[in-house]
Amino acid sequence: MLTLFSNHKFCQKIHGSNYLSNLSVTMIFAVLLLTILTISCASNVDGIQNLENSPIGDQPTLDKHVSQIAIDSGNVELDRLIEHGSLLFSAQFNSLDGAGRPETTGVGDSPFRSPRVMPDNFNRISGPDANACVACHNVPIVGGGGDNVTNVFVDSEVHPFVNFDGGEGDGFDETLTLKTVGVERNSVGLFGAGFIEMLAREMTFDLHKLRDDAINKARSSGSDIEVKLITKDVDFGKIIARADGTIETSFIDGIDDDLIIKPFQQKGVIVSLREFAVKATNNHHGMQASERFRDGIDADGDGMADELTRGDITALVVFMATLPVPGSVISSDPYVRTASINGEAIFNEIGCNTCHKPYLRLDNPIFTEPNPFNPPGKLKLSDVSAPFAIDLTKEGPGPFLKRDYTG
Ligand code: HEC
Ligand code: HEC
Repeated sequence: MLTLFSNHKFCQKIHGSNYLSNLSVTMIFAVLLLTILTISCASNVDGIQNLENSPIGDQPTLDKHVSQIAIDSGNVELDRLIEHGSLLFSAQFNSLDGAGRPETTGVGDSPFRSPRVMPDNFNRISGPDANACVACHNVPIVGGGGDNVTNVFVDSEVHPFVNFDGGEGDGFDETLTLKTVGVERNSVGLFGAGFIEMLAREMTFDLHKLRDDAINKARSSGSDIEVKLITKDVDFGKIIARADGTIETSFIDGIDDDLIIKPFQQKGVIVSLREFAVKATNNHHGMQASERFRDGIDADGDGMADELTRGDITALVVFMATLPVPGSVISSDPYVRTASINGEAIFNEIGCNTCHKPYLRLDNPIFTEPNPFNPPGKLKLSDVSAPFAIDLTKEGPGPFLKRDYTG
């Protein structure tokens, strides 16, 4: 059973309304309604604090949040979690949900910016730039990539409000142009993201084991130990472990010195779907997660705190992790079919496959949340009693990849 919290704003709105009590004709109805709402508001365990009263008619998009405590105690079934994640991914966040970050840039709670309110609450370049994840990730279906109009100017989010006038919004940088303000990138599809995160984790565990074994060996033998960093047939150079427990890192190739594979974002700088989700919700929408911006803190100055709970972010991650995996579409036309088969042979022959591996084998298809390598400000393994586990080969909406002969 999902523990869901109803939204306090709705409750406050009705409690605070003079309009209802002034209409004698509807008095009985209003009393009844108030009674029902009072009971339902009083029964909230730990709801969201909405600090302002909403105008009549407007409602938050999210009518519920899910708590990590309920997930941890095993009270939330996978289907309900995916459903909530799907809702969050498609929700058109509005200011009653906590959307907008009038006083902060897309980077986080610092650097601050002088308050930007309507019509400066959106900025196509430095953000917030959209109401929903699905505004960009929707081709060919929800969870996919996006059209050219959904491109993001990555790194421009450090600026308060880019408008190329060289003023405060541009960080007083007069040299900014559309080409230099950020790296324009297209929205990518998220299908198969759960497998990608788990592959990266297995590779990180392999690399860390190679490193730790080499250090132990160097310590006990008193001499340098060289070890090649190869995992799942991918070569990341080598390290030399020294007897004093340090390592020579200058021969490492294609990965940071921490030997943690970061599979997300074009340059490979984000370790987990969770790290990405916490960044994206803030940058694109001004929806701030408690785990990053701290409980009860209104970091972006929009009058609301705890805009997304830890459980909400877990739901968003689980939704993305269980999105279907893309496959090749092989034409039934014999001519096209032969061309694809020949193309694949040439691809391998000329060496494209040295980097674009035809497959990477995942040893254990169980996706667990949170990722043990999450950086600070994201839910960590030590924050939960047990990770939430999903077998990607049989749980979730599918279609599923099959296990091979060894499991
Ligand atoms: C304005 C368009 C836009 C919105 C809104 C948006 N994204 Fe993205 N998303 C992108 C772009 C562009 C990239 C590629 C970024 C890069 O590589 O630097 C991306 C990449 C990602 C990735 C990494 C995928 C990979 O394989 O590297 C994840 C995960 C993701 N987005 C999740 C989300 C979530 C969750 C939301 C909503 C909270 C969201 N996005 C909202 C445009 C958007
Ligand atoms: C040395 C490693 C390497 C080799 C060899 C290589 N690629 Fe790539 N390829 C990459 C990387 C890295 C990217 C991603 C580049 C980026 O996103 O900026 C890429 C991207 C691509 C893309 C774009 C994929 C996308 O989704 O945007 C295509 C298509 C592609 N490569 C085809 C090929 C072909 C065909 C060959 C053989 C002729 C080849 N590559 C050889 C590393 C390689």
